[in-house]
Amino acid sequence: MISSEPIPDTQRTEDRVLSGMRPTGALHLGHYHGALKNWAQLQNTYACYFFVADWHALTTHYETPETISAHTTEMVIDWLAAGVDPSKATLFVQSRVIEHAELFLLLGMGTPLSWLERVPTYKDQIANLRDKDLTTYGFLGYPLLQAADILIYLARYVPVGADQIPHIEMSREIARRFNHLYGKDPLIEAQACAASAKLPEAVREQLVALRRAADQEGLTEMREQARELISASKLSRAEKDALRAQLSGGRRQILREPEALLTPESKLPGLDGRKMSKSYGNSIAIREDRASVEQKVKRMPTDPARVKRTDPGNPQRCPVWQFHLAYSDDATQDWVQRGCTTAGIGCLECKQPVIDAILREQQPMLERAQPYIDNPALVRDILADGCDKARVTAQSTMRAVRDAMGLKI
Ligand code: TRP
Ligand code: SF4
Repeated sequence: MISSEPIPDTQRTEDRVLSGMRPTGALHLGHYHGALKNWAQLQNTYACYFFVADWHALTTHYETPETISAHTTEMVIDWLAAGVDPSKATLFVQSRVIEHAELFLLLGMGTPLSWLERVPTYKDQIANLRDKDLTTYGFLGYPLLQAADILIYLARYVPVGADQIPHIEMSREIARRFNHLYGKDPLIEAQACAASAKLPEAVREQLVALRRAADQEGLTEMREQARELISASKLSRAEKDALRAQLSGGRRQILREPEALLTPESKLPGLDGRKMSKSYGNSIAIREDRASVEQKVKRMPTDPARVKRTDPGNPQRCPVWQFHLAYSDDATQDWVQRGCTTAGIGCLECKQPVIDAILREQQPMLERAQPYIDNPALVRDILADGCDKARVTAQSTMRAVRDAMGLKI
């Protein structure tokens, strides 16, 4: 299930929101307009957990683990710059809450390989990142580790971009399967067991097979057939009810099925009109210095048909126009449309309001970041605090998980 509209932030709820980012270093304005602005909003309504997915970074960068720590600090400073507030949200680092690893391991026992292999990002990434050997156990397990991240906080919502939806879907399936396998309710079980003992052996075996197929592969058709088999049997009404309860779950919810909260697409493309991405070299960092912002925007390509100042242009064919759409008010947009199509303004002139708007947007972020740049120990403290809080929640889920699985001494 995918929600694109979070519940309005009129009051706080206890519902947990969880999201993570791999530590890629300094973030850019695309991250800000996509994810971070959304996080800063969600923290006003939900109990938010935002974490650095450093183990996930290792699945692709296992050969260069030494970059991760510096990237973590840089990235978290950008979260704070963007207004993510440690007094409202819990900020932490995945590898410092080792319970994620325990849940990952336990879930791994019952997760069919085919579920992992069919996740679209799996084959795509292996094909895209040709220079890396991703035929590893860790990389295959990427979405399962992500499921553990989410399920261990019993998160209700997971804000992510569209590319992550299959991972959230898989997390739901994993939760469902876990509850099915280990959430059996002893009372329902006992009654159903007594009832099925009264069935003819062939029917009993058929029922078991159908139920297994229905639960493990989600085949609703099988569930229907099992229902019919129960109805057609000569059992009492109470006995049939017990079998039906067992069939339709009869399970405790130990892990919660999370919902994806689709992050609205950032309206801001990269400097060249493609998606903003550090690897395309078309990005502006959240904390890019002023001179560099100015230079980058001044060098942006414009409508290729406007070779000379006197040639009229078409904003539709110009990436600068996309920036005006993201940043400028109606009056400025009108000024661009008219000035461009009549050659009334030059491109440098046209770019100036964009430069001004970006610098204006960055100013409060630079101010918020400065104390952390001056004193990175503050970032470490925030994360240490967040890890302690996250661990309490994670440990409580793990107690329930171990308990359900009977892993006690
Ligand atoms: N896979 C996510 C990404 O690449 C990062 C991530 C790891 C994550 N664990 C998560 C996101 C849990 C949401 C919830 O963006
Ligand atoms: Fe682009 Fe503005 Fe130049 Fe028109 S005037 S081509 S919109 S930069």
